[in-house]
Amino acid sequence: MKKDKENIVNKLYDIEKIRTENIKKEEKNISYNPEQVLSLNEIKSLDEKYLLQVYARMPVSFVYGSGEFLYDTEGNEYIDFLSGIAVNSLGHANADIVETIRTQADKLWHTSNLYYNSQQALLARALVEISFSAKVFFANSGTEANEAAIKFARAYGQKMNTTKTKIIALKSSFHGRTFGSMSITGQSKIHDGFGPLLENIEFIEANNIKSLEKAVNKDTCALILEPVLGEGGILPLENEFLEKAREICDKNKTLLIFDEIQTGIGRTGKYFAYQHSSVTPDLLTIAKGLGSGFPIGALLVSNKYNDIFDIGSHGSTFGGNHLACAVGYEVLRVIESGKVLENVNNISEYLFTHLNNIKNGFPEKIQEIRGKGLLIGIVLKENIQARPLVAKALEKNLVIGRASDNVIRLAPPLIVRIKTCDRALEKIEELISEI
Ligand SMILES: Cc1ncc(COP(=O)(O)O)c(C=O)c1O
Repeated sequence: MKKDKENIVNKLYDIEKIRTENIKKEEKNISYNPEQVLSLNEIKSLDEKYLLQVYARMPVSFVYGSGEFLYDTEGNEYIDFLSGIAVNSLGHANADIVETIRTQADKLWHTSNLYYNSQQALLARALVEISFSAKVFFANSGTEANEAAIKFARAYGQKMNTTKTKIIALKSSFHGRTFGSMSITGQSKIHDGFGPLLENIEFIEANNIKSLEKAVNKDTCALILEPVLGEGGILPLENEFLEKAREICDKNKTLLIFDEIQTGIGRTGKYFAYQHSSVTPDLLTIAKGLGSGFPIGALLVSNKYNDIFDIGSHGSTFGGNHLACAVGYEVLRVIESGKVLENVNNISEYLFTHLNNIKNGFPEKIQEIRGKGLLIGIVLKENIQARPLVAKALEKNLVIGRASDNVIRLAPPLIVRIKTCDRALEKIEELISEI
């Protein structure tokens, strides 16, 4: 019996050896060498030749990151005040996250959702503990988390009444690029040319209570809001608007969904932006900061609605895999044990004070500094475009972003330090003075 087992193992080992040798032979035909260091021009020409050209890229390629800093192919250092669009919550190459990835990668990456998964269960419990929710569904990205929320909302509506299918979203909102999430995104430039989209979606003005009252009725299954509109110009929703939204949703048995894909996981100084207000949603979606750069997304659901989805209602092959969930759990552990939220609030106050000073120095160029925590918008005068300023900042070794035509977006890592902010503020002031 033992001998048989040994024979089988040896046979398998031989097969594996043959396979590996074959792969090595095949590799010779593929012009890929992970050791190869490419110049920016080489990367650019490969990109143009082999990638679908859907991104307007900046002329830089980063090859290394550490904390609040990025380094390009030439070894130049940049201050990262964008965090991969509010993603690298703990900065680059955080030692605890690197260690977690190494340890988990040595053990197990993926088993599918056919089996129980301790990393998934532990991360779900942690998310429930820091939020209003009772249950979690894991996805791999923000748009997928929103797809889950849209399906959930329609399933909820259908259970009540076949006509309860309308979803209301905000003008200028952004919820993703897949069909459902694109359909609830309030920007025609995202929709145009891809129709027909999901039916029965209506858009209303942000912070406009009258249009809210007019739009939501008993046929509305969900209202989806970003507590701070990200792509729509770092625009916080007013507490009065959120309170009214809650009241109207309750009256019409409409689900209130918060998309906290950009604002969640400490970005605004609390775990979730809704925690700054007096309003609790029924559903909440997260992604970006949860993995600090590792792809993961989630839908959080309140206890009241935990029977809407049942076995087979939704699923994902990769969603909630061991590696992603181990990282998500470690991100939350580091935020909690490292007093990261405290840092967000202190640095936010510092940045708002100094940015307002810059604004006061250039009243003809800056309208307003707005946002929450470390999601900050520098709202330029209507006639000033943010895009060229983002490019100019890069020339000054400062990475910043844009959120709508005339808003500069700042989203430094949540672990950013005052001395780095001082260097960034100096560059921002110089940038504004040169407009
Ligand atoms: C508020 C919001 N929702 C959804 C998304 C889509 O997330 P993803 O790009 O991970 O699909 C984004 C991305 O920018 C976002 O900011």
